[in-house]
Amino acid sequence: MKIIEVKDYSEMSQKAAEYIIDKVCQNPNLKLGLATGGTPVGTYKNLIEDHEKNGTSYQNVTTFNLDEYIGLSGENKNSYRYFMDEKLFNHIDINKNNTNIPRGDSKDTEEECLRYESLLANYGGIDLQILGIGSNGHIGFNEPGTTFTSQTHVIKLASSTINANARFFNRIEEVPTKAITMGISTIMKSKEILLLVSGENKKDAMGKLLNGNVTESFPASVLKNHPCVTIIADKAAVSGLKSHCQ
Ligand code: GLP
Repeated sequence: MKIIEVKDYSEMSQKAAEYIIDKVCQNPNLKLGLATGGTPVGTYKNLIEDHEKNGTSYQNVTTFNLDEYIGLSGENKNSYRYFMDEKLFNHIDINKNNTNIPRGDSKDTEEECLRYESLLANYGGIDLQILGIGSNGHIGFNEPGTTFTSQTHVIKLASSTINANARFFNRIEEVPTKAITMGISTIMKSKEILLLVSGENKKDAMGKLLNGNVTESFPASVLKNHPCVTIIADKAAVSGLKSHCQ
């Protein structure tokens, strides 16, 4: 894992956007894996700014999001489909038909998991996957204990995840308790992974990632087994930890 330490959230967002733009310029047909949550919002803002100023085009890019809440349709403001449209897709020239997110309102969620996994396989997998990290080490919505062999599946959210994500909802009772998420093995099949980490509330997780063992009880630790991971982390999340891992 290569670690790039940056000053703050703003610099993380800028560097991450530059990284993605570079990949899109090298390969206009990029298959790009995307994440939600607070962490990538600034990155998406920078992508939009660059698209407006420099005309970087996403016409031939195909995107795959990591996860979606079960029970929320794309029109629901708290769905990850709505989030992605608002924060990125509506502001760049991407073809919406090329933006893929598990359907949280499918009647048969198990069937939807199979559909999503085979869709990814049919496209030949993801070139670059953007990831955030949960404070309990989750990636996508793969909570602690998820097997490293998992494919796209239904997951029951940990109470710490529900608490952490309640800030996006009016009331904690509105936070869905289940989600569809790419599995750990699905994520690990990506050719390249870019993990974004910001803020002091992620420092414990970063400590475990950098200095702990590879274990299913801390899902992000699996990234140590991937040949091409870059972490962009700000000082608040990583200072004092970095030297232990290099
Ligand atoms: C969410 C998402 C993850 C995200 C993580 C961290 O629940 N499912 O993909 O990386 O939790 O979120 P945040 O960036 O808001 O800290």
